[in-house]
Amino acid sequence: MNIKKKALELLSLEGKLAMVTGGASGIGLGTAVRLAEMGASIALLDIDKSQGKRAAKGIRKLGGDVEFYWCDVTSYSECEETVRAVYEEFGRIDILFNNAGVIKRKNTLELSEEEWDLVLSVDLKAIYLLSHHVIPYMIENGGGSIINTGSGWGLKGGPDAVAYCAAMGGTVNLTRAMAIDHGKHGIRVNCVCPGDTDTPLLREEASQLGEDEDEFLRRASDRPLERVGVPDDIANAVLYFASDMSSWVTGAILVVDGGGLA
Ligand SMILES: NC(=O)c1ccc[n+]([C@@H]2O[C@H](COP(=O)([O-])OP(=O)(O)OC[C@H]3O[C@@H](n4cnc5c(N)ncnc54)[C@H](O)[C@@H]3O)[C@@H](O)[C@H]2O)c1
Repeated sequence: MNIKKKALELLSLEGKLAMVTGGASGIGLGTAVRLAEMGASIALLDIDKSQGKRAAKGIRKLGGDVEFYWCDVTSYSECEETVRAVYEEFGRIDILFNNAGVIKRKNTLELSEEEWDLVLSVDLKAIYLLSHHVIPYMIENGGGSIINTGSGWGLKGGPDAVAYCAAMGGTVNLTRAMAIDHGKHGIRVNCVCPGDTDTPLLREEASQLGEDEDEFLRRASDRPLERVGVPDDIANAVLYFASDMSSWVTGAILVVDGGGLA
């Protein structure tokens, strides 16, 4: 077989359904576009209804098959209802990209209990909640691929971000634990750890720290590849994990950060 054709075949997501959380913006939106380009139908989940609907409309315009679902991924019942609705609409769930996220740039003294709970709920608990509801459908289908968004700060610490670092460290090891449990079901579970990527969340960090946005982004570019990331950089890594190109890869933590951690 032609080698190029084989590579494309391995990366193709034709006939598959991908759930993408935090799909209204940034990395989630960029990834939803990439997975749709590779043939997947997309269930786009977000708490931001207007942005989410706009994102879905944009993907549809590009020729993608996409539905927007308004869902707070920290709610057990909303995750349960949304997963059921997606299955009823599409009849399968092959890929789950657990990506919704928030950040609070505060140290232990400054952070309130509510802020701790919010960050841990969106960035960590939601992965458990959605996976809990999706995995039975994946088992029924004979397998699937779950990809969790971590961070470089899941592998090392960072300043003024205690809840975020705790959640991201948890995401990294939750990924490994889930990979161990569900390999026997044909479900692969992997984690992408982005470095600073130009999205509303990164710019929000500058504002939380009271720093000039341009200066913040300039400092964030100080890494071997001399730029911050763009959502496409992360989307390509997610595509690898979502597709058969990574069929023997599970429990892996892939750092995508222009060499920042190096
Ligand atoms: N941008 C970076 O530099 C960077 C670096 C490392 C890791 N990450 C991680 O990447 C992921 C995506 O971040 P991003 O930079 O694209 O941010 P973003 O702010 O552009 O997108 C995050 C999305 O999550 C949604 N969301 C927040 N709370 C939600 C909830 N309760 N239920 C459903 N949706 C909710 C938001 O509405 C938003 O659309 C996050 O987990 C973030 O921690 C980002």
